[in-house]
Amino acid sequence: MSYKTLAIIKPDAVKNNLTGQIIAKITEAGFKIKAMKMVRLTKDSAGGFYEVHKARTFYNDLVEFMTSGPCVPIALEKENAVAEFRNLIGATDPADAADGTIRKLFAASKAENAVHGSDSDENAALEISHFFSRKELLENFGA
Ligand code: CMP
Repeated sequence: MSYKTLAIIKPDAVKNNLTGQIIAKITEAGFKIKAMKMVRLTKDSAGGFYEVHKARTFYNDLVEFMTSGPCVPIALEKENAVAEFRNLIGATDPADAADGTIRKLFAASKAENAVHGSDSDENAALEISHFFSRKELLENFGA
């Protein structure tokens, strides 16, 4: 079972000043923040992060959107973190997302959907290391 996942508060949500409300939902749901930063992604960084979607029609738009403004990657910890976080954020398209989920509450569209969550334990580990060095992860401060 996984204990870690990577969340990203995406540029649409940061721009709409929703960062605080989204973090509150995450911590109210019992996730612990293990590392967090605000960054403006470069094309290379966003392109690498979404490499698995490279062949998809929406890839260029996705990279464009993810580099359009600052975003907030957050390494999270909770029992069964990947599945629990995906439940909390809801379906990719906010129109399909369940009531009370972060995307239902805060996202405008499938492309600009407020938050990202890792889809497997393996990807969670890769995605956390995309944004955070081992030194930046909280366990290194003894917490
Ligand atoms: P995310 O969870 O960050 O992972 C891949 C992202 O691609 C997804 O959220 C959406 O924002 C985006 N995405 C997936 N499908 C589409 C689509 N059909 N059109 C535009 N963007 C999409």
